[in-house]
Amino acid sequence: MDSFLIEGGLPLRGEVQISGSKNAVLPIMAATLLTSETCVVRRVPDLSDVAFMAKILRSLGAEVTLENGTLTVRAANISGFGDYELIRKMRGSICILGPLLARLKDARVSLPGGCVIGTRPIDLHLKGLRALGAQVEVDGGYVRVHAPRLDGQMVFLGGRVGPTVLGTANVMMAAVLAEGVTVIESAACEPEVIDLAHFLIAMGAKISGAGSPTMTITGVKELHGAEHEVIADRIEAGTFAAAALATGGEVILRGARPDHLGAVLDKLREAGAQIGSSAGALTVKGSGVIRPIDITTMPYSGFPTDMQAQLMAVACLAPGTSIISERIFESRFMHASELMRLGADIAIEGPSAIVKGGQPLSGAPVMASDLRASAALVIAGLSAGGSTQVNRVYHLDRGYERMELKLQALGARIQRVPGE
Ligand code: EPZ
Repeated sequence: MDSFLIEGGLPLRGEVQISGSKNAVLPIMAATLLTSETCVVRRVPDLSDVAFMAKILRSLGAEVTLENGTLTVRAANISGFGDYELIRKMRGSICILGPLLARLKDARVSLPGGCVIGTRPIDLHLKGLRALGAQVEVDGGYVRVHAPRLDGQMVFLGGRVGPTVLGTANVMMAAVLAEGVTVIESAACEPEVIDLAHFLIAMGAKISGAGSPTMTITGVKELHGAEHEVIADRIEAGTFAAAALATGGEVILRGARPDHLGAVLDKLREAGAQIGSSAGALTVKGSGVIRPIDITTMPYSGFPTDMQAQLMAVACLAPGTSIISERIFESRFMHASELMRLGADIAIEGPSAIVKGGQPLSGAPVMASDLRASAALVIAGLSAGGSTQVNRVYHLDRGYERMELKLQALGARIQRVPGE
């Protein structure tokens, strides 16, 4: 398995192009199953999760090409019964359930199961599909949904910690071909949900209120092919912004959307970053002074859980105490013990991490456990003295396009060490 070898202590300087969003493109790829016509999606990031989703679409019978960031899908003759192992391996693929049910009225996929950051049930997804009239059977590790027809309904999708992003996506994609009107209450408001709505509307769907907690979908008979350009990845942009602050550098993030990063930029400013934006770019400057911050993760437009680990790495560098509370996933502090291997002082108390920062970090071999935890270890390694080896960077490759090359372009001493 590949690892990254980082010589820390250098400020990041220069420009980097932000890629298309992983969490927008995955449901958009699933949405191509809603029509037999050709769909073209641009600014598709070169990520292992995207390659995996393409494999899943092909396993269902779709013709898929992916070249230089352009994806073409024609799902003319597809089956609703997905490959158990393929789908089980990538949680994000659960969002094929809604489109397959809508198009074929019968679909079966393997249950996604939990992951290191939490149990991650799909009860809200199934609640929403049931409300539209689907029969739901969970058996042998599979979930099967089927219905002679789907009828629009009012569906409340709020859960234990608020809305569900992929649950909202699944119900949207089932409702676009249902009879009548569906109203999703407590819908997720993430920019990725809005981007999916834009793609569905380009296919002929009738959707209003995307981006607000109340979304209205008027079902249509069928959808047609469409073209779409995916939004920029706000989490990739936030990660590079945090790295600029942590290393006392200055970076220009080409293509980043400041309007999608409100809560993140607010916390980075609080921590000492100078933030500017000009035509199509975000500039982030660290002054070398980092201040402690308190963060609580929340659904959008609150502070995103997908940036929690990266800001914990920044907090390790801030003299004083920072409190980081994770309210979305129940076990998303795997990075804390690895940051402590680099010399950080972190105590976990229930849903909160108390970070006593300011002592210099020193490089060491560390282990990546999940996508965003690995990004935090890279940020810490860039700021630490000496060399850090981040192992299992396959986690990073799931969500960051050629991260080490982008960091090298910003002057970082980082290289990929190929695994056995
Ligand atoms: C999406 O996951 C993202 N993944 C996650 O990003 C992100 O962390 C998450 O939204 C929250 O912002 C993709 O878009 C592919 P949720 P999703 O359903 O939709 C609970 C990354 O790092 N819940 O909004 O699976 C759930 O357990 C990844 O890129 C239920 O209880 O997340 C969690 O506590 C990690 N029942 C909370 O809701 C349900 O049926 C939010 O989960 C569904 C969710």
